Amino acid sequence: MVAAIVAVVVAVVCLRLPAVARGQLQVGFYNTSCPNAESLVQQAVASAFANDSGIAAGLIRLHFHDCFVRGCDASVLLVSANGTAERDAAPNKPSLRGFEVIDAAKAAVEKSCARTVSCADIVAFAARDSINLTGQAAYQVPSGRRDGNFSLDQDALNNLPPPTFTAQQLVDRFANKTLTAEEMVILSGAHTVGRSFCSSFLARIWNNTTATVDTGLSPAYAALLQALCPSSPNAATTTAVDPTTPAVLDNNYYKLLSLNLGLFFSDNQLRTNATLNTSVNSFAANETLWKQKFVAAMVKMGNIEVLTGTQGEIRLNCSVVNNRSSVAAPEAQMARHYYSGSTASIEEIATS
Ligand code: HEM
Ligand SMILES: *[C@@H]1O[C@H](CO)[C@@H](O)[C@H](O)[C@H]1NC(C)=O
Ligand SMILES: *[C@@H]1O[C@H](CO)[C@@H](O)[C@H](O)[C@H]1NC(C)=O
Ligand SMILES: *[C@@H]1O[C@H](CO)[C@@H](O)[C@H](O)[C@H]1NC(C)=O
Ligand SMILES: *[C@@H]1O[C@H](CO)[C@@H](O)[C@H](O)[C@H]1NC(C)=O
Ligand SMILES: *[C@@H]1O[C@H](CO)[C@@H](O)[C@H](O)[C@H]1NC(C)=O
Ligand SMILES: *[C@@H]1O[C@H](CO)[C@@H](O)[C@H](O)[C@H]1NC(C)=O
Ligand SMILES: *[C@@H]1O[C@H](CO)[C@@H](O)[C@H](O)[C@H]1NC(C)=O
Ligand SMILES: *[C@@H]1O[C@H](CO)[C@@H](O)[C@H](O)[C@H]1NC(C)=O
Ligand SMILES: *[C@@H]1O[C@H](CO)[C@@H](O)[C@H](O)[C@H]1NC(C)=O
Ligand SMILES: *[C@@H]1O[C@H](CO)[C@@H](O)[C@H](O)[C@H]1NC(C)=O
Ligand SMILES: *[C@@H]1O[C@H](CO)[C@@H](O)[C@H](O)[C@H]1NC(C)=O
Ligand SMILES: *[C@@H]1O[C@H](CO)[C@@H](O)[C@H](O)[C@H]1NC(C)=O
Repeated sequence: MVAAIVAVVVAVVCLRLPAVARGQLQVGFYNTSCPNAESLVQQAVASAFANDSGIAAGLIRLHFHDCFVRGCDASVLLVSANGTAERDAAPNKPSLRGFEVIDAAKAAVEKSCARTVSCADIVAFAARDSINLTGQAAYQVPSGRRDGNFSLDQDALNNLPPPTFTAQQLVDRFANKTLTAEEMVILSGAHTVGRSFCSSFLARIWNNTTATVDTGLSPAYAALLQALCPSSPNAATTTAVDPTTPAVLDNNYYKLLSLNLGLFFSDNQLRTNATLNTSVNSFAANETLWKQKFVAAMVKMGNIEVLTGTQGEIRLNCSVVNNRSSVAAPEAQMARHYYSGSTASIEEIATS
């Protein structure tokens, strides 16, 4: 009886260990299979940044929007023939940017080592490189993610937090992705870089109701925003989320919150909530502390629901799932992957 139980326990442990090891990302996953992978991505990001420093913010957000929807599996990059992929959803279109940087990095990596480096890892590396370019020491990013085969606009709506969320709603959304309330506050500090279209704060400046405006938007700042964004604004107008230093990764975001200069209702929630504002105050007071925690939280975010081992695939073109005939033999033995929105997949599904 005891022996039987021991045998079962041993069997379970033996079965579980490799599964756990397989499921983990590793720093330097491409050390031998593609030693240049990370530096090629870094070069593509640096070159895009030299042309347009705003691209760094775009790439940081791209990783966030990838990870929160079906995990960090590059599903955010997939295009759909009928416009129903994640990237077509309102939180992503037209604001999400950096797709062409990922494509350039992927092209360079494919040239150096074909069919080896996932699009999901490229997105994760590019976010790290963007953080480095805007003012943080480079840090190691575990890799070995594999690419997903499905992307649906509704998933983006269901999982990405909108800027109208309350503290409780924000905490809940992040908790669903294994991130704590403190990590939500830490990651929101990414709003120290980048831009926003008017639509993300329009209701806040024009429909001043208790639902959309809290005590927390400086009247002078509101007047500036109203001048920039009339109630029917030019769809192309944007403004910096952190107007003091829009291309620098610093703790100004937290300092602005205390001055009633948080751009989104959601930003201001971090300050008006008594539980969350202790973190806000400590990051406003200590930039080193925030940066340390930011890097750790980014790495943790990069682990959300990842595909590893034989799951998923290494996409050849980051915008579309592989079709069977384009896939190398070892890949072809794995589960077939289709993406419902792509023309190639529709053909494949029809013939399978
Ligand atoms: C806490 C919940 C969050 C909400 C409600 C939120 C909302 C938003 C909104 C509405 C925008 C502007 C989109 C537009 O152009 O209209 C934005 C921009 C941005 N967000 Fe967030 N966000 C959140 C968390 C995060 C996180 C966790 C990150 C990354 C770690 C992040 C990084 C960024 C960046 C870098 C931009 C600027 C993008 C650019 O310039 O292209 N955000 N966010
Ligand atoms: C890759 O090399 C780096 C630096 O030597 C090392 O820290 C890392 O553990 C290696 N990773 C793997 C998976 O071999
Ligand atoms: C440079 O940045 C602009 C946007 O600021 C973009 O339209 C253009 O395509 C970029 N050029 C290159 C070569 O990346
Ligand atoms: C970016 O990373 C490089 C390489 O580690 C480092 O030399 C540089 O100082 C970093 N940039 C910043 C702003 O810390
Ligand atoms: C929580 O995350 C899971 C996995 O991504 C998703 O299926 C579910 O819809 C999410 N729930 C909420 C309430 O966001
Ligand atoms: C203001 O609120 C009304 C009613 O909810 C809505 O129809 C309108 O689009 C809002 N205006 C802005 C600028 O958000
Ligand atoms: C919202 O309304 C209140 C009360 O009328 C006012 O004090 C505040 O300045 C308004 N805020 C904005 C952003 O218009
Ligand atoms: C503050 O946020 C917490 C979640 O961290 C929530 O439980 C609480 O209800 C919020 N407090 C207020 C006054 O909204
Ligand atoms: C923190 O939140 C509490 C509750 O809303 C508020 O009384 C306090 O003034 C806030 N602290 C700061 C520094 O804003
Ligand atoms: C700021 O945070 C860093 C990192 O945690 C810590 O070493 C340092 O002592 C803190 N500085 C102050 C003034 O509290
Ligand atoms: C990748 O796929 C997209 C969408 O079908 C296509 O527009 C693009 O040209 C492809 N890129 C390459 C390098 O083949
Ligand atoms: C997509 O991938 C998932 C998980 O890897 C798999 O279960 C599913 O069958 C695939 N879908 C298609 C249509 O191949
Ligand atoms: C988009 O295409 C997919 C796959 O063909 C299909 O399942 C979906 O219903 C289509 N959506 C719309 C809105 O036509």
